[in-house]
Amino acid sequence: MKSTHSIGAISVAATLLMAGAAQAEKLTLYCSAQEDWCQLMARSFEEATGIDVDMTRKSSGETFAQIRAEASNPKGDVWWGGTGDPHLQAAEEGLTAEYISPMRGELHPWAISQAESAGNRTIGIYSGALGYGYNTDLMAANDLPEPSCWKDLLDPIYKGHVQMANPNSSGTAYTTLATIVQLFGEDEGFDFMKGLHANINQYTKSGSAPIKAAARGENTIGIVFMHDAVKQAVAGFPIKVVAPCEGTGYEIGSMSIVEGARNMDEAKAFYDWALSAEAQALALEVDAFQVMSNMAAPSSDLAPDMSALTLIDYDFAKYGSSDERKRLLQKWDEEVSTLPQ
Ligand code: F6P
Repeated sequence: MKSTHSIGAISVAATLLMAGAAQAEKLTLYCSAQEDWCQLMARSFEEATGIDVDMTRKSSGETFAQIRAEASNPKGDVWWGGTGDPHLQAAEEGLTAEYISPMRGELHPWAISQAESAGNRTIGIYSGALGYGYNTDLMAANDLPEPSCWKDLLDPIYKGHVQMANPNSSGTAYTTLATIVQLFGEDEGFDFMKGLHANINQYTKSGSAPIKAAARGENTIGIVFMHDAVKQAVAGFPIKVVAPCEGTGYEIGSMSIVEGARNMDEAKAFYDWALSAEAQALALEVDAFQVMSNMAAPSSDLAPDMSALTLIDYDFAKYGSSDERKRLLQKWDEEVSTLPQ
């Protein structure tokens, strides 16, 4: 592991030196990817630079809310991971800082457009498509037909068998809401969310929890990013991954530096390191099967093939805007989550 970090370590050390911060000590990292990946990123950066990392994992919507609540006295330095929409909202609200990394030339165009659309206050670090997964043993045990479309999930036969996260806390679930609205139009999309609500057994806080519950046999169908379902299948659980027949949305998982960060030099050092192919290669060590933003980062044959999917032209500018995200979440709170089940 040491050798894979050596190039990253040299360039990070150089960055710190140039910034006149050779004594740099610590970084407060807010992380919205999977816990094991967050831990690995934090520990590997410490190993590469000697900078102590204090990492907290919270879902995308929760981290956004925390950064907003702390705006007058920022405590976090970097927000790494989580869906792009709340990162875009944070950028629009001036909660995150402008930064152009020297690593930018190594990135896929979609990662750079995310930055450009947000005045360089965020950047894409990975991409992944939404879908769902189900436990094949539970499907068989309950004599349920295997679904393949979004609309299949509205069948009352699945009552109590479907789980998704709450779109207020979870970026996965907000991506689901925004995807359904873009696929079916707002009126039909909200009718879909209401019909789905009748089949939901629980709205979890974290986006990947529904498929982890399915892997453990505690839930049948989980609406999640496809890569999170693949992770459970690769771990040996009886999970089948579905790319819904109508097409689907996707995320540009993002990273931002907190405006007014106390450890700004360390924040930039982490940001540059996290965009390197070496750091992005760590994803595969924890079976994180997103498409990484550095063009030289390795990929896995097990990862969902984004080019084979029917993807909507997800409107990040609209659904990541402060007004639209607030409006959709409020409408979901008022018109969907309050309905009896
Ligand atoms: O790391 C897994 C992952 O699904 C990411 O792809 C995504 O950005 C993040 O988790 C979303 O988590 P949440 O829905 O809990 O905000």
